[in-house]
Amino acid sequence: KRALIIDCDPGHDDALMLMLAVGCDLFDIKAITVSAGNQTQEKTLSNALKILTLIEADIPVYRGAEKPLFRDLIVADYAHGETGLNAPSLPVVTREPAQGSAIEAIAKIVREANEGVTIVPTGPLTNIATFLLAYPDLKNRIDRISLMGGGIFRGNMTPLAEFNIYCDPEAAAIVFNSGIPITMCGLDVTHKALVYQKDIDHFRAIGNKSGNAAADLMDFFSVYYREHHTELEGGAALHDPCAIAWLINPSVFATKPCYVDVETKGELTTGATVVDFYNTLQRKPNTEVAYDINREAYMEMIYQAVKRLP
Ligand code: BDR
Ligand code: CA
Repeated sequence: KRALIIDCDPGHDDALMLMLAVGCDLFDIKAITVSAGNQTQEKTLSNALKILTLIEADIPVYRGAEKPLFRDLIVADYAHGETGLNAPSLPVVTREPAQGSAIEAIAKIVREANEGVTIVPTGPLTNIATFLLAYPDLKNRIDRISLMGGGIFRGNMTPLAEFNIYCDPEAAAIVFNSGIPITMCGLDVTHKALVYQKDIDHFRAIGNKSGNAAADLMDFFSVYYREHHTELEGGAALHDPCAIAWLINPSVFATKPCYVDVETKGELTTGATVVDFYNTLQRKPNTEVAYDINREAYMEMIYQAVKRLP
């Protein structure tokens, strides 16, 4: 099984990403590290533990950075609510986070692994950038970073900047310039990775506790999209599971190798991923950029994974 470290900020779509990653049973998930983002570190950490309790997965969860490298913390309570994870069917957390920091845990896992490790970030990139700065010698032991973040032609925090990159652009710049092969599932693809009411009903009809929680989570998450993204016609952008889905079956996506960097000083564009989609700079591509998805196949993948969970 492919060795993974998942770095996330649950978050409703992060929660479904974790259900997909565990439920597909294709990965050896060595650790979950948590970033601040959708909510504060304290809340995203507790939310990650809550999801693992629900799906009965025994994976260590490590505390990450409390704020971006240089900037003030921004949270997405407007979309993810006061707790960061709203669903009546979630269990009370009884588990404790693992001892030690996210950065030390990533270093230990990567150093001791027999093969290359894949990192899947679905929140701001603070933890991953800090790891790369602290342990440059371990970089060549990471075989890929498959992340949700950025956009080729659009943003959701500013016209061109997406939330995860906007929160910590300096960290994102470190990751994109690391030389590690990257897969980027940005808004161009995640705004086609839509969950509709019929998919939510389908989750609920599974009849297990994970299916009920997935349906509750998507009920809450959809409200924001129905109010603020009428162009999606009732669909909610189920961003984060894309980063796992590409690892499971890349043929569900259309991708293009591109050179990508991050704007950290722009007047209008701070936090934008600058994607050279038409290769104007003629630089070596550093990122496999996803721009389209087979929505039906994607939803089916998540459905099958949730079905396998308790
Ligand atoms: C990203 O921002 C967060 O709110 C979501 O969890 C996702 O990772 C989408 O812009
Ligand atoms: Ca997220």
